[in-house]
Amino acid sequence: MTKSYPGVIEKYRNYLTIPASMPAVTLLEGNTPLIPIPSISKQLGANFELWIKFEGLNPTGSFKDRGMTVAISEAAFRGAKIAICASTGNTAASAAAYSARAGMRSIVIIPAGKVATGKLAGAIAYGAEVIQIDGSFDQALDLVVKLSEKHPIALVNSLNPFRLEGQKTAAFEICDTLGDAPDWLSLPVGNAGNITAYWKGFKQYHSEIKTGLPQILGVQASGSAPLVLGHPIDNPETIATAIRIGRPARGEEALLAASESNGRIISATDEEILSAQRLLASAGIWVEPASAAGLAGLKKQIEEKKLDPSDKKIVIVCTGHGLKDPDIVIEGFSKTKVLAPELNTLEGYILNG
Ligand code: F0G
Repeated sequence: MTKSYPGVIEKYRNYLTIPASMPAVTLLEGNTPLIPIPSISKQLGANFELWIKFEGLNPTGSFKDRGMTVAISEAAFRGAKIAICASTGNTAASAAAYSARAGMRSIVIIPAGKVATGKLAGAIAYGAEVIQIDGSFDQALDLVVKLSEKHPIALVNSLNPFRLEGQKTAAFEICDTLGDAPDWLSLPVGNAGNITAYWKGFKQYHSEIKTGLPQILGVQASGSAPLVLGHPIDNPETIATAIRIGRPARGEEALLAASESNGRIISATDEEILSAQRLLASAGIWVEPASAAGLAGLKKQIEEKKLDPSDKKIVIVCTGHGLKDPDIVIEGFSKTKVLAPELNTLEGYILNG
């Protein structure tokens, strides 16, 4: 008899700090591929093994689903009827989908004009009540925290510890697939929940099943790099709108993950991020801009000789699918031609350029 994949809660229930009898509200998230990408390690000019953990292949197109299945399951289990979050887009779409699954209302607060089309469309499609504010993600987060303290509304941002319980399963999957932890893990950092969750997961497997520990490379966008600069930023800017965050809620824990793992948090410019996005696409992996930050940061570290990847196993986390932000490609990459519907014209164009 075949046994189908049950989603991250049932797969890893014994490793999660959750109420024992909590049923799972799931879309069978997780179990994402760890894709070897030798063409890029070759281009980076070094002898090392490189994999992409492609989290864009989760049900709503981002890693948020791993945390959201746990946060919404727990909220539903204690009888919550409404979930709320602030979001740069992916959390919104994920909260909306899992709330729909649980029969709950979802309210998402987003910075007006700064959320990529695919994310906004997702939140609307799954039935969220979308509120745009004329302000930043950081202001939206302040507001939803206050609302959830005053009213019986479940906060499902990564301040909610159950989000981290779910997200740490990505670290488990990587160790399960490789048979051990990689030497380095590189990932984008915004509100800093994910880097905190990965480190939590790696440390847990290390103490419980004796896998090794990776060094963590966290990458912020240069215009939104409070953890690199050492102070909050009031007006963060970056083309990678998912990580356009000036006051990361879990910033302290992110810095701890970097220092405890003997890793670091660095920044990459928008140009470096877009160039890494193109490099990934050239290997068949299309991600949204923020998701390319991990590769942008790794490339920079290798070029600046701050990280010698020789003989290392390196995993880059690509957090969201390229379909989330199609505009960036259509506007920025190349112009498509419109031709007459004639064989001659097409032949002329294809054969002669
Ligand atoms: N990559 C993508 C695609 C994201 O959407 C986010 C965060 C991150 C990376 C950074 O993860 O916040 O845990 O450090 N997006 C949040 C949102 C803020 O609202 O969707 P983080």
